Amino acid sequence: MYTQGLDQKDKPAAAGQGTETPEQLEAFQARIDAEEKIEAKDWMPEAYRRTLIRQISQHAHSEIIGMQPEGNWLTRAPTLKRKAILLAKIQDEAGHGLYLYSAAETLGVSRDQMVADLLNGKAKYSSIFNYPALTWADIGTIGWLVDGAAIMNQIPLCRCSYGPYSRAMIRICKEESFHQRQGFDILVSLCNGTDKQKAMAQDALDRWWWPSLMMFGPSDKDSKHSAQSMAWKIKRFSNDELRQKFIDVTVPQAEFLGLKVPDDKLAFDESTGHYRHGEIDWQEFLDVLAGNGPCNRQRMAKRCKAHDDGAWVREAARAYATKHTAKHAA
Ligand SMILES: [Fe+2]
Ligand SMILES: [Fe+2]
Repeated sequence: MYTQGLDQKDKPAAAGQGTETPEQLEAFQARIDAEEKIEAKDWMPEAYRRTLIRQISQHAHSEIIGMQPEGNWLTRAPTLKRKAILLAKIQDEAGHGLYLYSAAETLGVSRDQMVADLLNGKAKYSSIFNYPALTWADIGTIGWLVDGAAIMNQIPLCRCSYGPYSRAMIRICKEESFHQRQGFDILVSLCNGTDKQKAMAQDALDRWWWPSLMMFGPSDKDSKHSAQSMAWKIKRFSNDELRQKFIDVTVPQAEFLGLKVPDDKLAFDESTGHYRHGEIDWQEFLDVLAGNGPCNRQRMAKRCKAHDDGAWVREAARAYATKHTAKHAA
């Protein structure tokens, strides 16, 4: 049902490919260089449109799939207050998904097509959400590291050249900052608690540290989309630059908590003012991306089931819309 009529929508744009003149491309780049925002109805190169559809829809899918590891802990939150905070956080993530799907729709792709691409495995989402949340300390660590890394990635997107995406990111970033704080606050409590609670926090950091660093994507030399995205001002900083910023900000926070970052090569370099770090296991990243992470199958199965379970809601909304239109046409 959800793939219906979608290819047609993609065709006119695809037909435009290759018909762009050097003058059009030059004028477009001049607008970007002048820091003008590109809006939905403006002319844009086909590759720019496709890059944004890919990036924004992946971002939306990540928000939606990212609700799963935390949703798993809603019934087991240790206090009513923690439960209310976690519930609000997860609802924010659903909202982020919706703003982002709407921003991508302005580029001419339908919501149905994006959802279909997620469910049939064609579209990717952030590899971090294929790791399990095993203890309550994982909920703190996800907020601290995963939302923390998301903020680092997303703040520069508030200045992205595509207007609808950049505007969606402003509100999202404000909410992500609350997410990061609620996670850190859970860890402050655990690290000031019993030895067992502190050990639980350390164990969570040991498991989430490296996957969090992978969230910034492959190293610059291996990142195939980076250079063009930087020229179009979709990206403002390279993957490695953002990863470094994240490490520099996060290591002192781990020290404040009294936790040890699981990297023996981690050291502050006085000459550069940055932390040096060990090698990231890119093979693990590629394996998870290829669908072989600890929870890939579980996450997709749950999303597909949620989509099927929601069929009656979509049907009812459609029936209502048809009735409403008929009433107003009469
Ligand atoms: Fe989010
Ligand atoms: Fe978040």
